Amino acid sequence: MSWPNNRLTQLLGIDYPLIQAPMAGGVTTPELVAAVSNAGGLGSLGAGYMKPEAIRQAIAAIRQRTDRPFAVNLFVSEPVKEEAQRVIAANRLLAPYREALNLPEPEPLLSAVADDSEEFTVSLEDSSEMLVSTGANYHEQVAVVLEEGIDRVSFTFGIPSDAEIATFKQRGVITIGTATHVLEGIVLEETGIDVVVAQGMEAGGHRGTFIGRPEQGLLSLMTLIPILVDQLRIPVVAAGGIMDGRGIAAAHHLGASGVQMGTAFLTTPESGAHSMYKQALLDTTEMSTVLTKVFSGKLARGLQNRFITELSEVQDQLPGYPIQNALTRDIRRAAAEHDMPELMSLWAGTGCALCQSRPVAELMRQWLDQAAQYLKP
Ligand SMILES: Cc1cc2nc3c(=O)[nH]c(=O)nc-3n(C[C@H](O)[C@H](O)[C@H](O)COP(=O)(O)O)c2cc1C
Repeated sequence: MSWPNNRLTQLLGIDYPLIQAPMAGGVTTPELVAAVSNAGGLGSLGAGYMKPEAIRQAIAAIRQRTDRPFAVNLFVSEPVKEEAQRVIAANRLLAPYREALNLPEPEPLLSAVADDSEEFTVSLEDSSEMLVSTGANYHEQVAVVLEEGIDRVSFTFGIPSDAEIATFKQRGVITIGTATHVLEGIVLEETGIDVVVAQGMEAGGHRGTFIGRPEQGLLSLMTLIPILVDQLRIPVVAAGGIMDGRGIAAAHHLGASGVQMGTAFLTTPESGAHSMYKQALLDTTEMSTVLTKVFSGKLARGLQNRFITELSEVQDQLPGYPIQNALTRDIRRAAAEHDMPELMSLWAGTGCALCQSRPVAELMRQWLDQAAQYLKP
């Protein structure tokens, strides 16, 4: 089969092997997801931070705008514990930012988590106090996705349980997992996942690494694609730094069955990214992105700003994900309200200097025509 048709397009029921990356945090509006699906790709709703009811509403809004396939993306999460002292120390470090934004002093432990999609409890173990993220929201999200009859589901940060995968298979749901190194790809395939997204170190947003330390999952996409393709039987989708038809063609030459592009969609009118975030992306150079844990406790790539610079020295003392993410939520939200990009998380891949501010349909046409030039038989 020749470009653009291949086993990925057949499996997903799409015209072009191009997936719009799920981007949690309000970027993947129903308009964005539907525009990508209507243009022949696979739009994806980044639902990782959404409450079940909000997911339901977003799905309905997407369905009003397209009858093409689209995916819903979730963060696989398990209960996580953190020492209370670490949380209290982190809140002390965050205090100057809260003060600058006129935010109230948080409760020592459960600051800013009340309206989070995560649920937290405080428990006493071995006489030390722990903050526990229950991971309960994820299971409710899975239930909603199944109830809504969603038939393409993608995941990051881990693998759904065997029981969940069995249910997906029974209902004919196609599952897409994220791997940052070969072992993760093999485990995803052996667990029954249908498609693997190979997330290169160039990728914007959080690292999907779930086996080993995050530093072990920092392979360049050019290295990761051929290694994964050689080891796996299921289709491999390339993600990280792909910004136009040249990147799409290169990924295919390396053996990928498709691409997943995130940053390239951030500056479209359909994207829900804050206007200052869009402007920052359009003003950036390829020198602008860094990997950081300061916003969420999990390694992620974004535009360097004041918050990252000031806290990078202490980032190893901060709580892990999702607790640090919950602690910084009020700061990030208030910064967005006050148009202060220096305190917002501006996730972006290394290709961000190639961002364009054009509608999805136009951009996709341009990329796909360009890819076709390089992929002509
Ligand atoms: C703003 C932003 C948010 C992201 N959120 C998610 C997410 O919710 N789930 C997910 O699986 N990947 C997420 N990613 C990572 C993408 O799936 C993908 O790996 C990445 O966008 C590819 O690199 P690129 O941004 O250079 O195209 C996010 C990426 C960005 C830029």
